[in-house]
Amino acid sequence: MKEKIKAIFVTEQEIPDEYNLAQELNQKEYLSNGKMLSWDGPSHTVYSPICIKTKDGYHRKVIGTYPICTEKEAMESLDAAVAAYDNGRGKWPALSVQDRINCVEHFTHKMIAQKDVVVKLLMWEIGKSFADSVKEFDRTVEYIYATIDALKDIDRQSSRFEIVQNIVAQIRRSPLGVVLCMGPFNYPLNETFTTLIPALIMGNTILFKPPKHGTLLHYPLLEAFKESFPAGVVNTIYGRGNTIIPPLMKTGNINVLTLIGSSKVANELKKLHPKVNRLRAILGLDAKNAAIITAKADLKLAVEEVVLGSLSFNGQRCTALKIIFVHQSIAVEFIKQLNIAIEKLKFGMPWEKGVTLTPLPEPQKPVYLKECIDDAIAHGAKVMNNFGGESFESFVYPAVVYPVNNSMKLYKEEQFGPVIPIVPYVTLEEPINYLIESTHGQQVSIFSNNADEIAALIDQLINQVSRVNINSQCQRGPDVFPFTGRKDSAEGTLSVVDALRSFSIRSLVATKLNDHNKKLINEIISKDTSNFLSTKYIF
Ligand code: G3H
Repeated sequence: MKEKIKAIFVTEQEIPDEYNLAQELNQKEYLSNGKMLSWDGPSHTVYSPICIKTKDGYHRKVIGTYPICTEKEAMESLDAAVAAYDNGRGKWPALSVQDRINCVEHFTHKMIAQKDVVVKLLMWEIGKSFADSVKEFDRTVEYIYATIDALKDIDRQSSRFEIVQNIVAQIRRSPLGVVLCMGPFNYPLNETFTTLIPALIMGNTILFKPPKHGTLLHYPLLEAFKESFPAGVVNTIYGRGNTIIPPLMKTGNINVLTLIGSSKVANELKKLHPKVNRLRAILGLDAKNAAIITAKADLKLAVEEVVLGSLSFNGQRCTALKIIFVHQSIAVEFIKQLNIAIEKLKFGMPWEKGVTLTPLPEPQKPVYLKECIDDAIAHGAKVMNNFGGESFESFVYPAVVYPVNNSMKLYKEEQFGPVIPIVPYVTLEEPINYLIESTHGQQVSIFSNNADEIAALIDQLINQVSRVNINSQCQRGPDVFPFTGRKDSAEGTLSVVDALRSFSIRSLVATKLNDHNKKLINEIISKDTSNFLSTKYIF
């Protein structure tokens, strides 16, 4: 098997031309205050998770470099975002909703023109299969258009007056200020844009730090940002997160922190803000979603969904199934069928058709996953599938680990990789207690064909997590559904509509309803002199 895994890595000449990068992408500039500023300081070398076979061994392919800027450049970008917001009086926050939509549409056209290069970089930077990289790009574009439609809806609903207790008011959503936006490496484009775009379109100004893996793919989009928005509205910051982010937070000039990452980092950053009450946080954090497979489940279906849920994109989804509770009476049969399904999964290079399992981007991941497996073995578990946990360079073959118990790392830690811990249980109280005691609270999947059993589980679990999936894997989509979590899994809610709410605040203009005020309001509306107080309707 080791040889088979080794054989997935090819020589430079064996990479199909249509998927190879024409050349290294050495980014020597960044977008700040409406300009592409050049950078000749230190840079970070980007190593792909894809290793190249050479006569001297296997080496992660170097695909480019990006700037390692310092606190100084980050502060200058912050100043630009603060100036562009100008206490809410800047061009962007004061622009009409229709004009902001026009800018975002302009950007999206330019973004679509960069699809090929962005998709290729996505594949090379994080090892996501070509098919999934295309899906990530398309899903992001769809998300932007859905966001525009949702904003039009919100705006139409706000284009009227409400009269209560002889007070007339117009209620709209207003921006919050400067948004610091940081996305994750596993969905570097999609998840970054599901916060950046709603924040932007609501009139906020943006400081945007690309994730550590999945940085270069944003470079081809910087020109589109520059050309589509007024100076200072979108600014990028590059550099070591722990060097450049804390000083930004300490200024107190960040109004919204939006981060898809770890709860530890989010907590540390929030505490640095001098006035926590002025900081809004929209966070997607840790998760360890469980599947509960009862004795009454359709095993074939459960196996199919567990494979999808725990191994799509190598198990590197925040929504992935990361622990599986199986009723003791069916555990052996479940594992047997699971192993057969895993054996059918194709592993290889991301450009191969039908490939599911690909190399992992974080250099330390194979070692960490081995530690988890060894720890489980030391505490009495076994690897149940052939070649489970075998690895070579950046690739790790999925491991089914059983029986897992609460003394093992795999019981509590978010492994974020292709390892499937299986816990046998006797009574449903066991998985329910697991969820109650867990620090995570994103989603759960329950597998059963018995309506009474499902009903009882739903009512027990819906107050532990934010989404209970019946006979299906956990997932974020459809993107119009609320995506959130309890405990250390999230703060705030994202969905196409919820994100627009999250990055804005309801504000109203109100007055006593008398003839004098009626006349004034009518005059403002008929002369069209205010963007806020207006009954204009966007179609
Ligand atoms: O990593 C977390 C993603 O938001 C998961 O999205 O469930 O659609 O794969 P997904």
